[in-house]
Amino acid sequence: MKNAVVIYESKYGSTKKYAQWIAEELSCDLFERKQIKKDALKQYDVIIYGGGVYAGKVSGAEAVIKAFHTMQDKSLILFTCGLSDPKDVQNAESVETVLRQKMTADTEKNVKIFHFRGGIDYSQLSFADRSIMSMLIKILQKKEPGMLTAQERDMLDSYGKAVDLTDRAAIQPLIAYVQEQCGSLEQ
Ligand SMILES: Cc1cc2nc3c(=O)[nH]c(=O)nc-3n(C[C@H](O)[C@H](O)[C@H](O)COP(=O)(O)O)c2cc1C
Repeated sequence: MKNAVVIYESKYGSTKKYAQWIAEELSCDLFERKQIKKDALKQYDVIIYGGGVYAGKVSGAEAVIKAFHTMQDKSLILFTCGLSDPKDVQNAESVETVLRQKMTADTEKNVKIFHFRGGIDYSQLSFADRSIMSMLIKILQKKEPGMLTAQERDMLDSYGKAVDLTDRAAIQPLIAYVQEQCGSLEQ
């Protein structure tokens, strides 16, 4: 019997939504990253961590991966939440490459990564984030349309709008993985 915990870091709520859905389906504990100390993780066998994607990086993932280096007896499942479509291999790979750069070979063996789609509502962005997006969009608008990556096209298409691409059904592969790989979970 194993027990799991879901931990997340979310600026605008989409990652939190996925974390809540996963914790609900697995009937397991749920914490925001800043609410839980490393020592408290000792009691869990399966750690599921989700972070929003900002400028290609997964929020909080670096610290979680670092902490995981001393917890090789556990399984780590990472999920990312970004605007880009993870079905596009290029999108998923670019985020995964950044994550894997932080892992040792041993850590990598015990980690599984899933990607989900979040959303964006420009009316809710902080001043700093709106400025970053505005700068990025100006750069993208100067590119030849044919030279844009799928991720860049997604950014341009949603610019200035409110878009919600969250999808509860998307968590099913993660749920199935936890159930298959990690045996029955303690309720
Ligand atoms: C400043 C900023 C940078 C972003 N960069 C990316 C990115 O590089 N790739 C991506 O897919 N989505 C990007 N997004 C979209 C976010 O990943 C998306 O809004 C996600 O839902 C955020 O998670 P949250 O709602 O939990 O904060 C960015 C959003 C902001 C505000």
